[in-house]
Amino acid sequence: AAKKNSPLIVGIGSGANYLASDIPALLKYTRDCAVMQDGEIAIVGKSSVEFFDSEGKPIDKKLMHITWDADSAEKGGYKHFMKKEIAEQPRAVRDTLSGRIVDGRVHLPELSLGDEQIKNIGVVHIVACGSAWHVGMTAKYLIERSAGILCECDLASEFRYRHPVVRENDLCVVISQSGETADTLAALREAKNRGAHTVSIVNVVESTMARESDDVIYTVAGPEIAVATTKAFSAQLAAVYLLALRLSSAVGRIDEKEEKHHCDALLRLPEQIEQVLENEELFKPVAERFSKASSIFFIGRGLDYSISLEGSLKLKEISYIHSEAYAAGESKHGPIALISEQTPVIAIATQSNIIGKTLSNISEVKSRGAKVVLMCSEDTVIKENVADYIIRIPQCDELLMPILAAVPLQLIAYYTAILRGNDVDQPRNLAKSVTVE
Ligand code: BG6
Repeated sequence: AAKKNSPLIVGIGSGANYLASDIPALLKYTRDCAVMQDGEIAIVGKSSVEFFDSEGKPIDKKLMHITWDADSAEKGGYKHFMKKEIAEQPRAVRDTLSGRIVDGRVHLPELSLGDEQIKNIGVVHIVACGSAWHVGMTAKYLIERSAGILCECDLASEFRYRHPVVRENDLCVVISQSGETADTLAALREAKNRGAHTVSIVNVVESTMARESDDVIYTVAGPEIAVATTKAFSAQLAAVYLLALRLSSAVGRIDEKEEKHHCDALLRLPEQIEQVLENEELFKPVAERFSKASSIFFIGRGLDYSISLEGSLKLKEISYIHSEAYAAGESKHGPIALISEQTPVIAIATQSNIIGKTLSNISEVKSRGAKVVLMCSEDTVIKENVADYIIRIPQCDELLMPILAAVPLQLIAYYTAILRGNDVDQPRNLAKSVTVE
């Protein structure tokens, strides 16, 4: 076996040895494995495995013993992995935060930059694909707003070919559940070659991005099997909140009291996600309506825009219904031409500083016949007839609302896909990790 670019795992069993592209595929045969690195070669026999480097010199590979409990890679009584993973989000967020908030302060030793180096950061380049890119969009907003550091958020497939302007004192953050996505990995290498300090936020230990970046902030969501990410997405959001707070306190934009306030809000999130999950019956009527639609729009502003992108992608990925998310303020610059009688629109309005504008965008689309589902916090006062259906989520620190807003959108996509009879865990044409261009 030879490993180049795509992941390759060697499973060491008793009386048999295995090759696989991903650890969960091995778990029913063995828990002991070696993660191959680019250029390495393995000669795998029935009772022996030898490893060599790219020059053919024998090497000793460190074996990993996988400790995930058996049902982690099984459905655990749920109909679909996606439903199980949606339900695991409180624990994924709790475990990702665990040990990283100490006495009301962010404790993130994985980021090897000290306060002075953080103060000297020029630009934070955030690069990812798919849902991870939506986390990056959220991170850009958080870091600029709370740390005052300029952020770029790029799709990896664009970043890697656009000759990006990356300098020595820049920070490049790549976000990836698998840690193997080809475009994101190439972007990481591009940023590194240009001298940036690189940090990967990944969910798979020893993944290629984890090994090749200067620093690694692991999300602790456990193995994610469903192609459409949910718990890893929420765990990534928790990780970028921690990063944004770490940067903010390093540059002195927040004092210890403010940091504690935000940390306390973070620690309350798992139980608030539980509250949203308990209301899942409320989201089914939306799925009923959506399942008959041919095109669905998501709108929001600021943090609500990045989450509307995620809601739209979730729906597309598993229900196969055309969907589009756009910044609510953009309605009048074209998209509103697509709104006709009964067009479903989900409007996300969780940010009090901008909700008035989003409400006026809602009346724009409603007056043209759209059927509007409004998502807002439980504390928001909404006049009669503003929307056709309202989804309310618990009120929390407004910067953290995306984590709570994502859950109803995941469940709406999930139930819509089921109503359409689709394979929720393995949607057509998609792969869990795209390790080729
Ligand atoms: C897609 C997945 O193939 O890749 C998405 O279906 C994911 O869920 C995207 O967001 C990026 O993958 P990763 O592993 O880099 O987060």
